[in-house]
This record gives sequence, C-alpha cells and structure tokens, in this order.
Amino acid sequence: MKLSVIGCGYLGAVHAAAMASIGHDVVGIDVDERKVDSLARGEAPFFEPGLPEVLAQGIESGRLRFTTDIAEAQGARVHFVGVGTPQQKDGNAADLTFVDAAIDSLLPYIGPGDVVAGKSTVPVGTAARLLERVMPTGATLVWNPEFLREGWAVQDTIDPDRLVVGVPHGGHGSRAADLLREVYQSSIDKGTPFLVTDLATAELVKVSANAFLATKISFINAMAEIAEATGADVTQLATAIGHDARIGRQFLGAGIGFGGGCLPKDIRAFAARAEELGRGESVGFLREVDAINLRRRERAVTLVVEALEGELVGKQVTVLGAAFKPHSDDIRDSPALDIAMRLHDLGADVTVTDPEAIENARRQHPQLDYVDDRDDALRGADAVIIATEWEEYRRDLSPEHASELVSGKRIVDGRNCLDAALWRAAGWTYFGMGRP
Ligand code: UDX
Repeated sequence: MKLSVIGCGYLGAVHAAAMASIGHDVVGIDVDERKVDSLARGEAPFFEPGLPEVLAQGIESGRLRFTTDIAEAQGARVHFVGVGTPQQKDGNAADLTFVDAAIDSLLPYIGPGDVVAGKSTVPVGTAARLLERVMPTGATLVWNPEFLREGWAVQDTIDPDRLVVGVPHGGHGSRAADLLREVYQSSIDKGTPFLVTDLATAELVKVSANAFLATKISFINAMAEIAEATGADVTQLATAIGHDARIGRQFLGAGIGFGGGCLPKDIRAFAARAEELGRGESVGFLREVDAINLRRRERAVTLVVEALEGELVGKQVTVLGAAFKPHSDDIRDSPALDIAMRLHDLGADVTVTDPEAIENARRQHPQLDYVDDRDDALRGADAVIIATEWEEYRRDLSPEHASELVSGKRIVDGRNCLDAALWRAAGWTYFGMGRP
C-alpha cells in the first residue's frame, strides 16, 4: 500500500522503514533538510539498533524514500503523523504545535478515502479536534498510538505487543479500521492483537500505559527509600514481589529513575490534561511519581558526596553513561546527565563517557568533560558512578581492571546493576540505590 509518514524522528523514521520492510511503498516527510538528506542516503540520524539495515533495504528495494516536500504525500492511502509533542517551555502540558502544523500542511494533499493516522502521543481530545479539520477534505482521521521502546524500536514496530486503532463513529470509522488492518496484516497474521476503539480511548491507552510504567518504576524507587531507612535490599525485594505473576519483575529496576523523551513529559502532560478536564485528582498520584523519580537523582548525588566524605571540590568523578538508557543515544531528560551536571555544579571535575551519546551530551552540556574511551574516562577517578547500564559497564568491566585505573576505589551503582559482593571483595567501597 502507498503510505506517507509525516515526521521522521525516532518514531517516524523507524515507522517509515519498518512499513517498507513489510512490503509497503513509503514516503517519509520531514521539514528538517539535514535529517531527510541523511535518511535518503540510508544513514540513521540517531543511534537505533537495526535501523540502518532496514533503511538500506528499503531504499535499495525502491519502496522507501524521504523528502521535505509535503506534496509528495499525495496519492498515499494512509498518512501516518509521527511528529514530536514535547513538553511546553513554560508549563507541563504537551506542545501540539508540530502536530497542528503537520495536519495543516497535509490538508491540500488528501481527499476522499484517505486516512490520516495519528501516531504521536497527544492529550486526550486532540484527535476529535483534528478530525474536524480533516473531514472537509473527505478524508478521515484515526489514532494509532505507538508503543515502541528506543533500542528495540524496529522490532517493536514490526512485531508490536498490540495494535490499537481509535476510529470515529460511523461508516467512515469502520472503513478506516479495515484499511489499517490491511496495513498491519503481516503482524496480525503472526497473532498480534488488533484492537479497535474510539478516538479518546486510543489516545488514553498510550498515556495510561506510560503512566503505569512510570508508576511502577517510582513504586520500586519509593521502596528503595524505605529500604535505605531500614537496611533492607530493594533488589531482593523486587525479585521476591516480582515472582507474583500479578506484579511481575519487569520495570521494578530501582535506581536513578526514569528519563527520556516519553515517560517524564507524558506523565506531566497527562496530569495537566486531567486538570483541564476537571479530573486532576484522579491522577494526582502522578505528581508524586514524578517527585519520587527526581528525588532519586538527588540521592545519587548524595551518595557520591558521601563516597568522597563530603568534599567534591578538586575531585574527579567519572560518570559512566550519558544516555537515558542503554542502546540509545537519546539524552532527553537523562538522569545520568542531570546527575553529572549537579556534581559539576557542586565543584567536582566531572568526566562523562558513553558508547553512543557523547556528541548529543556535549552539545547540550558543553561544560562537562567527555571522554570516548571507558578506560581513559576511569583513569584517575576519585569516585565512579554508573548511571546508564550499558554492557560495557555492567558486564564487561571487572572491579580488578577498574582498580588499576582509578585513584580511589569508590563506586556508586546508580542502576543496581553490579554484583556488590564482587566489587567489595576487590577492595571497593560500593554504594547501591536502596541496598545496604
Ligand atoms: C517508553 C515506553 O516503554 C514505550 O512503550 C513508549 O512507547 C515510549 O516510552 P522508552 O522511553 O524508550 O519507552 O524507554 P523505557 O525502556 O520505557 O525506559 C524509560 C526509562 O525508565 C529509562 O530511563 C530507564 O532507564 C528507566 N527504567 C526502566 C528504570 O529506571 N527502571 C526500570 O525498571 C525500567
């Protein structure tokens, strides 16, 4: 099927390439010329495992191309909109400027029978508003939220856990659902559940899924705070409660908390939207979820200060990791960089390393020192904090090897990803998050 994808960031670029890989004829459109040039050459403008391969295949097959010209959307039957919805500069709500602009730019090129499929994460009620704008063209609009995780984006797009399509009431809606079913047929054939809902439900599925995940992480981080007051070990606690299938062990990783381009801004936007709807109290707990999350960053800073017996000035602190999570070069709202900046502001000489995110980090925080090589970054450190659990730090770094590089054997395990006993046995002072 001929498809267009408006917006070629983390979501749109992956969606476009993934749709081409399952046989569709796709044009990806973005206003950013540099991004389009890079994608058109088959180069991913950001780090995402598997993306370069599907991009190259798609371009080679002739089924995938990229352009800045929105007029090239004409002729596609489904137009996916995957532009960003960042947090507003002066508030918690989502900034819908890019979504509105994308729909406006598309209107002259769509007509009867076409379907506009929103994928961006938006405040509930947005789709109904956009539908009013799309309807006079004879096209219809559906909401088809995206649940991909960075680092697994290609796989999550080709084989998602579930497909959700919110459609308007009436015949237009059911015809649009059928068209989306056709788009995703190969995935449905493999058993992926395909859920058709109304527009508001589809918008809410996305924000509530992210709110739930954020709440789960903050729940275990709240338990980490209690563990710290009692001498308990939150990692053992997580494993023990996680054996209950109703709870499950996933997303019970206590540490420096969640960051990224989604969870933090999505829970804030959700709370802001609920306020507008007069239901602020229904998700009032999300403010607490946010507060617990941010407190853990402060806690990590406190542990580094403790490790260095209160004196940061003139001390070298090495921060292992800058990305908000491993397998990504995304530094949006990264707990790792937030902690690095706080340590820097307290007077420490902070060295940051990361296998993929250094360029992005340097652009945002040029005041920090960046070192590509892990071992060079560790050399001379008075204290080390592991802030992003890349395999290079969690699995491949032995305490014996690290001992040969640092000046002081003090480590803060911001992701509870190291074997504390092993590090202690090698003479290190080990500090976990919610572990004795
Ligand atoms: C998230 C959702 O998982 C995805 O479904 C949605 O489409 C977009 O938002 P993503 O932002 O890629 O995906 O990252 P995710 O893997 O959810 O991790 C988010 C943050 O939570 C990271 O900073 C991660 O380090 C942190 N995290 C995750 C924890 O602190 N503990 C955990 O147990 C799990």
